[in-house]
Amino acid sequence: MIRRLDHIAIAVPDLDVAIRRFAEDLGLTLSGREDVPTELTSTAFFPIEGTRIELVQPMDGQGPIAGYLDKRGPGLHHVCFETDDLDGDVAALRAKGYQFLSDAPKPGAHGTRVIFIHPKSCGGVLMELAEHPHHEPTNAQAWR
Ligand code: CO
Repeated sequence: MIRRLDHIAIAVPDLDVAIRRFAEDLGLTLSGREDVPTELTSTAFFPIEGTRIELVQPMDGQGPIAGYLDKRGPGLHHVCFETDDLDGDVAALRAKGYQFLSDAPKPGAHGTRVIFIHPKSCGGVLMELAEHPHHEPTNAQAWR
């Protein structure tokens, strides 16, 4: 079951420039950076009030974010909901006809398992579902 808004992701061509904007100009606090090799992305997280802004940059100019930037330019990329039962939610949504970008969940940042719902199934919005390790869905403080 979906429990909370995990993060909103923004595709950026230059992570350092974007980090400076969010930290110095907007005054948010960077909680960390992490490369996600399975998605060929470099990420940076800014927690705010129980959710986070996630900046995503292509790793080595490759991967899905590189394709997105080429096609649509920088901007809002996806919305991620945290679930406490990823496999159950995927099965339920598949039964309702939803399509996913991969056959099965993959490793995401912070030890999560994640899967993306195809934007065609969600009114043009790319949606990610994430399950955190140890099932601590309501305690956002635990992994800041
Ligand atoms: Co994400």
